[in-house]
Amino acid sequence: MTEFSKPYGEKYRPQFHFSPPAKWMNDPNGLVYYQGEYHLFYQHNPDDIVWGPMHWGHAVSKDLMHWEHLPIALAPNEHGTIFSGSAVVDWHDTSGLFSGGHGLVAIFTHADECLETKQHRQRQSIAYSLDKGRSWRFYDENPVLADPNEPDFRDPKVFWHEDSEKWVMVLAVGTRIRFYGSPNLKEWEFLSEFTGGCTASVWECPDMFPLAVDGNPENLHWVLLVDVQDGGPTGGASPMYFIGDFDGVTFTPHKQQADNLWLDYGRDVYAGVTWSDIPAEDGRRIFIAWMNSWQYANEIPAPSWRGAMTVPRTLELRSSAQGLSVVQNPVQELESLRKGRTTIPAQAVEGRLELEQEFSECLDLELEFVANGAEEFRLQLVSGDQEATVVGYNFTTQQLFVDRRRSGEVDFSPAFAGVHQAPLVTEDGKISLRILLDKSSIEVFANGGQAAITDLIFPREGSRRINLTSEGGSTQVRKLNIYPLASVW
Ligand code: FRU
Repeated sequence: MTEFSKPYGEKYRPQFHFSPPAKWMNDPNGLVYYQGEYHLFYQHNPDDIVWGPMHWGHAVSKDLMHWEHLPIALAPNEHGTIFSGSAVVDWHDTSGLFSGGHGLVAIFTHADECLETKQHRQRQSIAYSLDKGRSWRFYDENPVLADPNEPDFRDPKVFWHEDSEKWVMVLAVGTRIRFYGSPNLKEWEFLSEFTGGCTASVWECPDMFPLAVDGNPENLHWVLLVDVQDGGPTGGASPMYFIGDFDGVTFTPHKQQADNLWLDYGRDVYAGVTWSDIPAEDGRRIFIAWMNSWQYANEIPAPSWRGAMTVPRTLELRSSAQGLSVVQNPVQELESLRKGRTTIPAQAVEGRLELEQEFSECLDLELEFVANGAEEFRLQLVSGDQEATVVGYNFTTQQLFVDRRRSGEVDFSPAFAGVHQAPLVTEDGKISLRILLDKSSIEVFANGGQAAITDLIFPREGSRRINLTSEGGSTQVRKLNIYPLASVW
């Protein structure tokens, strides 16, 4: 077998991240847990490696790591192509679609062109499955929600609101969020509208959910996630969030929020949403995002497939001197892919330290360090004479960064090469990093998930060497564990 004929053996093919078997993928859709399976649907063009007529591709997993591909769940019909949306378990048959039992309902945007005006049109529709998501039927009376005055009217996220005993839909409408309510997923009434933060470009793919502050279930606040197509911290598309309260009608953000809060400071997290119906005994809020950017998604050097998801992450609300923030970390299931470990002894680094070993392309790294006079500390993931992806922390500017200017193939788009920075303060002088490296991505989680940077990279050569550099003084490395990760395919 040649490298290319092996399933998932192509040069840049992610080994522990989800990617479609072939062709184009963008947003995750319809994330729902039901009867022992995590469902992952996704925006999919089955006929090409660029964006086109949207379908919902489908996969299921029992552990969020290993995925079984299933046939396309939703294909374009007379109401249009199938844009992003969500799925829920209708446990009590509020919809009447399940003859008193329960089943899955998908709520999504039908996108077409209005016959009379020839304008783009986006309307919300539903589909349902009686067989654990294996086959789907469109509801006869689609669409279920339209507004002829709003051209950008999409990406419904639906959840059951316990206190007001109804379904709530969070919808992106221009640079606003609209909330709608329904007793049965079929009839929707307007509740309220919200806007704020960055309104530089159209909003997409919202989500909203309650999170416990520092794990205290008595202290719940609501987090509203929304993506902006432009104007994020890297200059491009980014996930923004608001913390506030929701009374079943209106979302009220906390006053403390002066600056925009960004979920990730890299270029390649977009359209991220969370799983519905995670069992209470699990209790996690699990998030996954499209690991790509509209600025170059159609051009990345992936010849047979295009698009991957981030690693699934848990979201939590944490309080600190800076206020409340959402912290994120890889789900613990990822650790089951670790095979072996290299531990580098704790030591002071001054200047440059080259590790002797050669490492595999898929790694999970834990690194902890404190400044010992240094201005900047860097870890370089070297992939050939001229190539390295650099993860660093500048103690003076208090910025974490990923520099992918020399990470490998960068010139397929002028928007690709760059340095992406996240503000980050030390904790008792310390910085701790968790770094996930796959064949074409790097994800950095700092200080327990307080900051995250997610970037695609396309290193030309297979193995990795690792260098550490301390500039302007020494850095005390307290911990460096390197775990090779097994492929999930
Ligand atoms: C976000 C998005 C959504 C839309 C989908 C279409 O990436 O633009 O707003 O539903 O992609 O594929």
